[in-house]
Amino acid sequence: MDILGKLQEYREEEKRLVWEGTFAEYLEILRERPEVAQSAHSRVYNMIKSHGIEEVNGKKRYNFFSNQIFGLEDAVERLVEEYFHPSAKRLDVRKRILLLMGPVSGGKSTIVTMLKRGLEAYSKTDEGAVYAIKGCPMHEDPLHLIPQSMRDDFQKQYGIRVEGSLSPLNMMRLEQEYDGRIEDVIIERIFFSEDKRTGIGTFSPSDPKSQDIADLTGSIDFSTIAEFGSESDPRAYRFDGELNKANRGMMEFQEMLKCDEKFLWHLLSLTQEGNFKAGRFALISADELIVAHTNEAEYKSFISNKKNEALHSRIIVMPIPYNLKVSEEEKIYEKMIDDSDIADFHIAPHALRVAAIFSVLTRMKESTKQGVDFVKKMRLYDGENVEGFNHADVEELKKEFPDEGMSGIDPRYVINRISSAIIRKDVPAISPLDVLRSLKDGLDQHASISKEDREKYINFISVARKEYDDIAKKEVQKAFVYSYEESAKTLMDNYLDNVEAYCNKNKLRDPLTGDEMNPDEKLMRSIEEQIGISENAKKAFREEILIRISAYARKGKKFDYNSHERLREAIQKKLFADLKDVVKITTSTKTPDESQLKKVNEVIARLIDEHGYNSISANDLLRYVGSLLNR
Ligand SMILES: Nc1ncnc2c1ncn2[C@@H]1O[C@H](COP(=O)(O)OP(=O)(O)OP(=O)(O)O)[C@@H](O)[C@H]1O
Ligand SMILES: [Mg+2]
Repeated sequence: MDILGKLQEYREEEKRLVWEGTFAEYLEILRERPEVAQSAHSRVYNMIKSHGIEEVNGKKRYNFFSNQIFGLEDAVERLVEEYFHPSAKRLDVRKRILLLMGPVSGGKSTIVTMLKRGLEAYSKTDEGAVYAIKGCPMHEDPLHLIPQSMRDDFQKQYGIRVEGSLSPLNMMRLEQEYDGRIEDVIIERIFFSEDKRTGIGTFSPSDPKSQDIADLTGSIDFSTIAEFGSESDPRAYRFDGELNKANRGMMEFQEMLKCDEKFLWHLLSLTQEGNFKAGRFALISADELIVAHTNEAEYKSFISNKKNEALHSRIIVMPIPYNLKVSEEEKIYEKMIDDSDIADFHIAPHALRVAAIFSVLTRMKESTKQGVDFVKKMRLYDGENVEGFNHADVEELKKEFPDEGMSGIDPRYVINRISSAIIRKDVPAISPLDVLRSLKDGLDQHASISKEDREKYINFISVARKEYDDIAKKEVQKAFVYSYEESAKTLMDNYLDNVEAYCNKNKLRDPLTGDEMNPDEKLMRSIEEQIGISENAKKAFREEILIRISAYARKGKKFDYNSHERLREAIQKKLFADLKDVVKITTSTKTPDESQLKKVNEVIARLIDEHGYNSISANDLLRYVGSLLNR
């Protein structure tokens, strides 16, 4: 559909959602859909829930977060289950300020922004609809109109608990405009919007000397006192602080711990009693989620200050660490690149992966567990199968350092380095090696890296480089075989036939002549040697494979190429060893003959068509692998 048509549709939808009626009519709505009267915290939780919750390995996955926040499943689960969910049920945590704590550019602001956008959209749905007293600058909850003495009765009839008292302004309006007839008060449906300052607010501290508390709480408008006669006339009050505007929804408190204390004290009573006080004005009831964010250092210095004790106990801290899964890290970069102006530039396959390997390594802590080095740990965290380790081991590794992921290289640094590598290139493609080089060069300019860390990081660059070498070799060798999976399968079937005959002391039948023949020892050994299985160990290895096959058969599972990790590795290596010479010769001759040239062109075409290369990056890759094989 064209954009003008869409605009029209948008306008009509906006119109359709508008609702205005009397308080009496509003009660009719509540009779059918009591959920629209929910508290701000409950609304946030239900909004998250409305996007769906999945259960993976006994852990909850929230779809709302999972399409934009990658690799933080555990942290997000904790955030929802320890804060949003209980606070929706009016448990005590709702009276605390939510403080997201984590390292720079680890996704804190992204989470907050998602919540804001999520609430905006949710307020346009039926179940997320929000209603307010019309003309109230704080979009006050209509149910505040119900006098305290009647609230128990109301709760019995409607099943809705009413909290908070009618603001002085609406109290006055009720008398003056409606003659005290609550049922006639006009109610309207409102839609959250940060731009229009409805239900979503952001407070960002500036110079404490010039910043006025009014930015947060609103203030008395002295110019109107002459008109209204008194400072305490509610009409003389401007309800335009962020706390006022965010009523019913959420307020983001940026850099909260950098903020002057006087601002924080207001939050104390707001979170604890649900109201705040401004100057000589009466208490103002408000119902909103307050989210703040900070880094670890700032938080530590905050709690070490005795003066902050009272505040401290009213804050609930949720750690938001860096992601520690390589494949998820790649997704973060992809998303950031898609959003940037380098989106159209050709970034060779695996370039983001090597960067991700590097960053994840810098964030991990070295395990004391036997046989777990950095690379293994990285693979385990990423959900790969590593022989000798299972799911429980991974959970155990995660528990070893509760603060893992709170430091290391941040995604923004990586994207900056990729951008700068792109700018320096004069051809329209960057390779994984370009990226690694740029990451390394940047370490010198990175202000917050200690000398000790820099050395560690440079070492991680080499680890990432080695990982890439393996990836690159495999990629090229695969591209040399017409159908790699097929060849691997054939080789494996062949091996298994021989192993079976060997263990059962049987003969094999030659498929062509039908003659009986002995198991092909040379073939079996050529595969086993690839993974260092000695002559003495071969029998045990073969028997173990047969046991695995029969275990699979018993469970009705198919034993295939991926069922035995070491066997798969052996088959892969064998295939590559056979290919190595062909690849070596073809990729490194300066003056290829006609058949070599044909092969190279075929491989390049396959890399471009099937593996996402362009002609520059495909040629780069071949040249690089040629040099690796000739070392
Ligand atoms: N786990 C993640 N999943 C998805 N995107 C992420 C993740 N971590 C970081 N990012 C991306 O990194 C960039 C920086 O993140 P963001 O601004 O949310 O971090 P922050 O924690 O608020 O950082 P700061 O402390 O610097 O304010 C964003 O583009 C964000 O999308
Ligand atoms: Mg931020």
